[in-house]
Amino acid sequence: MQDVTDGAFWKLMHRYGGADVYWTEYFRVHAVSRPEKWIVASIEQNSTGRPVVAQMIGNEIPALIRAAKELQQLNVAAIDLNLGCPAPIVYKKCAGGGLLREPQRIDSILGALREAVSIKFTVKTRVGFASPSEFDALQPIFAKHSIDLLTVHARTVAQMYRLPVHYDLIRHAAETMKCPVCANGHVYSADQALEVLAQTKARGLMIGRGVIRSPWLFNQIRQRLRGEPVTFPTGREVLGYIEALWESQASFDAPEKVQCERMKKFMNYLGEGVPGDFLHRIRRSQARADFFGLCREFFDHDQPMRLEPVSGVVPAEPS
Ligand SMILES: Cc1cc2nc3c(=O)[nH]c(=O)nc-3n(C[C@H](O)[C@H](O)[C@H](O)COP(=O)(O)O)c2cc1C
Repeated sequence: MQDVTDGAFWKLMHRYGGADVYWTEYFRVHAVSRPEKWIVASIEQNSTGRPVVAQMIGNEIPALIRAAKELQQLNVAAIDLNLGCPAPIVYKKCAGGGLLREPQRIDSILGALREAVSIKFTVKTRVGFASPSEFDALQPIFAKHSIDLLTVHARTVAQMYRLPVHYDLIRHAAETMKCPVCANGHVYSADQALEVLAQTKARGLMIGRGVIRSPWLFNQIRQRLRGEPVTFPTGREVLGYIEALWESQASFDAPEKVQCERMKKFMNYLGEGVPGDFLHRIRRSQARADFFGLCREFFDHDQPMRLEPVSGVVPAEPS
């Protein structure tokens, strides 16, 4: 996730059990692009012991081939192509989710990349640009190019992050594609993760915002898969996570106000799982003392917290 899933964030997730595999934020690829240094650094400094997939976004075939060849020299398990980013600045240039309007172009890009990538080559897609019915035409193109994994975020680009998630389309892909299919979209609890797995028949789950909100989710899903009861963090453990997030994101030369702003990006997701006016108030904090004073008010206790989305607490949509 842009501006979130760097090496420091993976390391923090790993302390709570972590994912089986991590994706980088996307490398922006165009005629004169060079792999972004900070994303390369995340890969080189990956201390989780778990594999990393390098994701690219772009639409120029020679540039994508060049970038894929460069990226596969790094210690990555796969090269992934983003066909889902819904940001207008991206899709208007016909990259990310914008490419879903041009299936023939996707066909050419996948053909060229499959030939250029000698390690695993994977695709992350939404189910269409304007309508989920577009997936019928897209899926045969993914099937044609012997990709190694298809991750389906089962919303359209036009939907951005709104519900519903079209899990039935993931199931269709899982039942008909030769490669494994990974389900993505709105996984926020262990119970619901198992429902999504059962409903979609996907081989795995990709989780985004749910683990910013609760890094315990990875292990809770593992507990549920083993048939064990799920354990929830106490308020103080949540406070410990927020403190660790601050430490992992802090840059010593940045003013506190800037650091608070950075933390609000994460709090926007965590706050969605906290009843009451935490999110509303944390968005107004300007200094470390205010920020943690408020966190202590809500989390300095030993009660378990589920951190599942609370109705009525609405986070800002990611751009
Ligand atoms: C802040 C943010 C940044 C994201 N950046 C990326 C990205 O770089 N590449 C990508 O494939 N998806 C990106 N996504 C989309 C997520 O990977 C995921 O598909 C989406 O959030 C739905 O899954 P979720 O409901 O588990 O969050 C981003 C999402 C958010 C919220």
